[in-house]
Amino acid sequence: MNKKDKTLFVCQECGYESTKWLGKCPDCGKWNTFVEEHKVPASKTRPHITNFSSEVKKISEITETQIHKNRYKTNINEFDNLLGGGLVDGQMILIGGEPGIGKSTLLLQIAGRLSSQFNCLYVSGEESLEQLKMRAQRLKINNGQLFLVSETLLSEIVNRVNEVKPKFLFIDSIQTMYRDDIESAPGTVSQVRETTAELLSISKSIPLTTFLCGHVTKEGTLAGPRILEHIVDTVLYFSSEQHHTYRLLRCFKNRFGATSEIGIFEMQEEGLKEVKNPSEIFIGEKPKNVSGSVTTCIIEGVRPILLEVQSLVSSTPLPVPRRQFSGLDYNRAVIIIAVLEKRLGLRLANQDIFINIVGGIKTKEPSCDLSVACAIASAVGNFVVSSKIGIIGEVGLTGEVRAVTHISQRLTEFEKLGFEKCIIPKANLKGINGKLKIKIVPVETVFDAIESIKNAK
Ligand SMILES: Nc1ncnc2c1ncn2[C@@H]1O[C@H](COP(=O)(O)OP(=O)(O)OP(=O)(O)O)[C@@H](O)[C@H]1O
Ligand SMILES: [Mg+2]
Ligand SMILES: [Zn+2]
Repeated sequence: MNKKDKTLFVCQECGYESTKWLGKCPDCGKWNTFVEEHKVPASKTRPHITNFSSEVKKISEITETQIHKNRYKTNINEFDNLLGGGLVDGQMILIGGEPGIGKSTLLLQIAGRLSSQFNCLYVSGEESLEQLKMRAQRLKINNGQLFLVSETLLSEIVNRVNEVKPKFLFIDSIQTMYRDDIESAPGTVSQVRETTAELLSISKSIPLTTFLCGHVTKEGTLAGPRILEHIVDTVLYFSSEQHHTYRLLRCFKNRFGATSEIGIFEMQEEGLKEVKNPSEIFIGEKPKNVSGSVTTCIIEGVRPILLEVQSLVSSTPLPVPRRQFSGLDYNRAVIIIAVLEKRLGLRLANQDIFINIVGGIKTKEPSCDLSVACAIASAVGNFVVSSKIGIIGEVGLTGEVRAVTHISQRLTEFEKLGFEKCIIPKANLKGINGKLKIKIVPVETVFDAIESIKNAK
């Protein structure tokens, strides 16, 4: 076989293979994602990614084993909850996130906790042992059972695993690891896929719980192949708005639990700290007696979180006024502005409009619509919305206010934080459970909502 036959072009987004270089991937539609790689000879790839094989049994004959009943806890509650109660033997967990978001910090903190009971091996392909030690000192981690190594060659890592016999393995990051029997560069689809497959088969056979961290591109997908998401058991993504100290850890996939929870952390000098009462923090600095600021409630995973929505509207000499929104969906915000102009007659065409969800939270929930509309109306009309009023509701194109989900949960959260009144969609009235003290103001249109917050004390 000559060299030409072995060369392949592989889409780094989805793993699509082609014998020619292509500008646009026919599979996932991304541009400029093809990279030349060398074909992995069939003898080197694993036929079965998990190496599982068993005899055929009746379902009633299979006895539950201890393996998946045992949950290992890190005692970082936000993290344990996110994973459905803790870690499981042989589980492989992928933590994705943008550069600098705190992936290594999180991994080291988890390793720090687990190493009080178990052998843990932390493999870094990105930092030297001194750098790791410096971070560990800052995080006050100094456990005898935590082993560190700087290594990128997979076969060496396997040797270290056999030496240390860890219960938990940490790979920072999967894009730096490589197998020397595969010619492509580290970080390419073939390398990432094959190293992960190898690690997976080691994890499942020992069993050993393995954490992988991976970089995420600007578009928010894992740099390199999506393929990883299918191989691993659990996928977590770490995110935040730039320059904010809050970090959200979301579960996108979990073979051992639900994916509805999120974990909220704050980045501090001593590492990531759990945020137990997010509502208190996100509305804690809300200014009083200022126009353009209102409070709404979103549901993140299964828990309600109160958020402050701020708006600033000012006239502009620019022919095209600025529309700058942070934390919310651009298209929804533009629609709300159009509704305010068309249905309420607000003149916004020559105004710059800025909208900000305070605290660096990003949300796409339609239930924020009404609060965004009210924040803009408050900024335009220069009237203050009482800080004891909560606002929830989706806004339709005719200016009607539509029902939202989890109404009782949201109202309870408002009540818990001392709110006296809440504007809600009229259609939600019948879904409310009895015992709420908070005063409810049902509205049918954006117009009604704005009238009622204007007149409220
Ligand atoms: N002394 C410090 N005090 C507070 N925060 C710090 C301190 N040092 C680092 N950080 C925070 O830690 C972050 C880097 O964390 P970490 O190295 O865990 O990120 P990462 O996701 O692993 O990054 P990379 O993609 O580069 O590997 C910095 O962006 C910063 O916010
Ligand atoms: Mg790192
Ligand atoms: Zn593709």
